[in-house]
Formats: sequence, structure tokens, C-alpha cells
Amino acid sequence: MQKTLKNEKDLKIKAPIVEALKTAYINPTYQFHIPGHTKGLGTLPDFRNLVGRKALMVDTTDEFDNLGTLTPATGPIKEAEELAASAFGAKKTFFLLNGSTVGNLAIAMGLTKKGQKVIVNRNCHRSVLTGLIISGADPLWIIPEKLSEWGIWGNVDASDVEDLLRKNSDVSMVWITNPTYEGVVSDIRAIAEICKKYDVPLVVDEAHGCLWNFNDKLPETSLKLGADIVVHSLHKTGGSMSQSSMLHISENSKISADDVERALMLLHTTSPSLMLLGSLDAARANLQSQRGQKQLARAISNAKYLRSEIDKMSSIHHLKSDFGYKTDVTKIFIKADGLSGKRLESILEIDFGIEVESASDEGLLILSNIGNKRSDFEYLAQCLHKIDNHNYKDIYYLENKKHMPMLTPIIKKSLREAYFSPKEIIPKNQAVGRLSGEVVAECPPGISILLPGELITEAHLPYLADYEVIEVLK
Ligand SMILES: Cc1ncc(COP(=O)(O)O)c(C=O)c1O
Repeated sequence: MQKTLKNEKDLKIKAPIVEALKTAYINPTYQFHIPGHTKGLGTLPDFRNLVGRKALMVDTTDEFDNLGTLTPATGPIKEAEELAASAFGAKKTFFLLNGSTVGNLAIAMGLTKKGQKVIVNRNCHRSVLTGLIISGADPLWIIPEKLSEWGIWGNVDASDVEDLLRKNSDVSMVWITNPTYEGVVSDIRAIAEICKKYDVPLVVDEAHGCLWNFNDKLPETSLKLGADIVVHSLHKTGGSMSQSSMLHISENSKISADDVERALMLLHTTSPSLMLLGSLDAARANLQSQRGQKQLARAISNAKYLRSEIDKMSSIHHLKSDFGYKTDVTKIFIKADGLSGKRLESILEIDFGIEVESASDEGLLILSNIGNKRSDFEYLAQCLHKIDNHNYKDIYYLENKKHMPMLTPIIKKSLREAYFSPKEIIPKNQAVGRLSGEVVAECPPGISILLPGELITEAHLPYLADYEVIEVLK
């Protein structure tokens, strides 16, 4: 007998898309519609065997089998979005396919216009910039503090937001990334109060913070702290499948959900994957269930365990919450004396079969996920102890390459104007002194090295090691 719901609380947790998919699976119809693989028969058997026939049988799109539609949300999808809104503390939630990227694009398209000013932190994800290129709004950059010792960006200072708002009476939106990829948290409460004072909406790209509303040992979610709109990459840490995300509009926001929905309608696929939508529904229900709560508590305890093990090491260090900012404990940024982050990453991968979230010049990022077991962390700690006790040599100088862009831009032309200006491709060694014609941002972390209209300087070259040519403005 299937045993999923264990107690009274869990019995009340519904997952309408999952239920509708189950019903469709149990009651198959003769299918004369897309997707043309027709429940997995029209594809390569190797692929079918790999992912399983069952997975392909529930790979369907909206409109069929009473599964509802995504835009506008109807049926089980609408119900699932409403349940998500309540779980995350929002007035309205939209399910997103194509990740938080499409959420950021829709925010820019739906809420900003050509020539409007938007306050944005420079270390934002490239999707924010793509959104601004599409809408034509101009970024007013906030350059957060650089934590050079760790090779990462610090938080956004609320007073910097206020300075820009005071100097620019025509700002249409403040758009902050919180937390950073490495888990550094900004004071969103203070930023939200400033935004209210100046009557400017606050958008928070909380792509990396979707678990926060589900455990009080994690930072407070921006929705609670006064943000108007929040984007969450559920697929990053929330347990849904890759590409699936959510966009929330807060209870007291004056922002028009219709404007956001209209933009989403333009940007979203017209064949949304029910599998991905179902995975969002499942992830939310799991996080609310006793099982999910335990998994999250375990992720936090695993992170604390790893941190306490690292505290015993002499050459490996982790970014702690006492370094001056709040952090998300589940994101463990570590560095080793004498080793670059990239070198440490390859030692873990090649010598120990461990793959981490990302690595940069100084260190690397380990995520303590809800799906990880304690034994995963015991193994990782053992390996780090071995590295700590072994004299590994760095070969970083061979790479001669930098990874985490921490540059202050020199802007010569507006983003959109530059993006649509005539361009040419030139060898990289002739690029210094020219204006970039493209968004250069490696993923991860997806933070821009250069944007259209910015001056290319000698300082950019170490970040462009993999580029032979570069697109510049004519
Ligand atoms: C801060 C931030 N925002 C948005 C995104 C885009 O998210 P997605 O991959 O869900 O499209 C990312 C991706 O890494 C990100 O780091």
C-alpha cells in the first residue's frame, strides 16, 4: 500500500496538478494530439528506458485531460498556484517555465518602459539585464561591497538605495538580488522601508532563497519584509524539476498582477510541460509536509555539521555568518589556503567524485539540499579533512583566468541603444578601448562581465580568457 501522507496535517496538504496527472495516467485516452511521442512510444527506446515509460506517459501539455491551462491559469493549475501563494505568503503566485529567467523578463517587460530608471545591483543575474534591454529601461547601478578576501560580492547597502532615490526623482523600480549566489543576505526590511518612503516598488530576485518561508532558522523571506514582487527558483533548492520557478506578488503590493500576467503570456511557451508544473506543485506540497519539514531541518543540520567539521581544519575555511552580514546557512562557501576555488573543485571532482555547485577564483560553493543525506556530508567532510592534511599544489597560474566578475562598469552608451547599435566582431587583443556590443556573463553565476555600451579595459581581459573574439560597437 502506498504510504505518503502520515499525519493529519499532511492529509490536508493538496497537490492538485499531481492529482490531476495521476487521474490522467490511470485513465488513458486514445491520443491524437501533441506531444507526438504519444506517451513515450514515438521516441528512441534507449531514452524511454532511461527516463522510464511512466515519465513519458505524464509528459503532456495543458488543455488536455482536464489538466487546466497555464495562462490564464485555470483548473488544477490555478488551484495549485493559489495553494503556492498561500504557502509562500503571497497575494498571487504565477508558475514559471524557463526558470526565474522568464520571471525577470516579465517583470521588466510588464513593469518598466523605455527611458525609465531602475535601480539594480550590478551583481544581478543576466536575465534582469536582458529584461531591461527588452523594455528599454535604464539601470542605475548599485555596486555592492566587494569581499575581496573571498572573491565574492557582499550585500546591497540600504543607504546606497536611498542615495540614488534621493538624487533621481524618476525611478520606476528598485530591483535587488537577495541572497547572493553564495548566500549573503541584504537588509530587505530597510530597503523596503526606503522604497515605501519614495513610493517606488521593490522587486527582489530571491532565486536562491525559496526555502526561507519554511524554516525559521533561515533568513526571512522578502515577501514578509515588504517586497512587492519576489522571484523564486524552486528548481534550484526547492525540489522541483529544472526550469520550474515561481513569481509572487505580495499581499499589500500596488503592482498590477495583470501587467505581469500579460508579459508572461507574451514570453511563456504555449505548450507548457505539465510534468514541470506538477513538479512545482509537488515541491510546494512536500515543503509543507512533515516529510519536507524534516528534510529541510536535516539540510540545515547537515550544513551546520559540515561547518563544524571545517572549523577543525587548519587550511580550509568557510564563510560564516559572523563576518558582518547575515547569510543562509545552507550555502557553504569554502576556500583553502594556497588553492584557488577552481583547483579545489577539480581535486574534489577528480580525486573524490564530488561535484559542487560552483567554483570561482577564491573558493567554491556547496549547497546543503533537502535531498542530501547525512552520509553525503560525512563523506564530503572526510574528503575535506584529507585535502586539509595533504599538500596539494595549485596549478591556477596555468589558467591565468578569473571567474567571478567584480568589476565596476564604465558605461558609455545606454544598454538598449548599445544592444541595437551596429556591431562588429574583432580579435580580443584589439578590444581594449572599444565598447562592448554583447552581454558577457558566464554561468554560473550569470553575473555580467560586460554589457552592451560598456568600455572594455585591461581589467576585463582575465575574465575573457576563453574568448578569441569579442563583439564590439562599430
Ligand atoms: C540571482 C539569479 N536570478 C535569476 C536566475 C535565473 O534563474 P533560472 O535558472 O531559474 O532561470 C539565476 C540563475 O542562476 C540567478 O542566480
